[in-house]
Amino acid sequence: MTLNAQTPVGQIVTERLGRAAVLDRLGIDYCCRGKMTLGQACAERGIELGEVLRALSAVEIDAASADQVEYSALPAGALADHIVETHHTYLREVLPRLDVQFDKVVEVHAERHPELRQMQDVFRRQWAELVLHLVREEQVLFPFIKQLEAWASLPRIYRGSVDYPIRVMEHEHDSTGSALKSLRKLSGGFAAPPDACPTYRALLHGLAELEADLHRHIHKENNILFPKASALEASLREGKAAPSPSSGESPARSATTTPRLPSPGSPAAGNERSPPSSSD
Ligand SMILES: [Fe+2]
Ligand SMILES: [Fe+2]
Repeated sequence: MTLNAQTPVGQIVTERLGRAAVLDRLGIDYCCRGKMTLGQACAERGIELGEVLRALSAVEIDAASADQVEYSALPAGALADHIVETHHTYLREVLPRLDVQFDKVVEVHAERHPELRQMQDVFRRQWAELVLHLVREEQVLFPFIKQLEAWASLPRIYRGSVDYPIRVMEHEHDSTGSALKSLRKLSGGFAAPPDACPTYRALLHGLAELEADLHRHIHKENNILFPKASALEASLREGKAAPSPSSGESPARSATTTPRLPSPGSPAAGNERSPPSSSD
């Protein structure tokens, strides 16, 4: 589609992931605020719309093949699997590594760069939240989405809505987005000071990569997977057959209770309560 001032920024990236680098560079939030229009984003950032459109058009021509995967064309369950295999695996590998680097860098450089201690606090708090967030998605929301995809129609005693756990996850994404903004601000855009040692530079480089990966990760969930899941549930409510089931689970054998999640902002995965009830 033709991009213009009215195009939502999340949709711009959904159509071509390579455009994310342009929006990242301009500081336009396409993941947590994906519904914002490009015109609004440009006005907010004080950027000229024409310049952004030209930069985005260049991506159309030069896009690397790796960016051409059409995530929006994947069935919801396959997209959830891709997110776990790619982004969740990456987080579980990189977060402990960055934590070790933070310890070393704070010990040597925090006296001259006190912002490092604040950055470490933000990182550690967010790391703890992220670990729980990944578990909630893998054990509750993503299996729920796969169940919806497997059903040809909603079971008679189906209760609740996938929108409830989605709202919880979006709330947690907002928290991650705020932490990333803090890290970027405290580090001056992840720029290494002249006296930075190789570990200090590696830490900042790793944090910049973490930010880029989390932006794409959250974008795929907020702007592609979650709307797909809501639409799937809506079509089942209307009595339409679910498109392309991804698992062989039959309605008769499927669980008939809705997975449960803690309320938005609740820190403990085990402290769950039931989602609001609504029958089909
Ligand atoms: Fe995720
Ligand atoms: Fe998530």
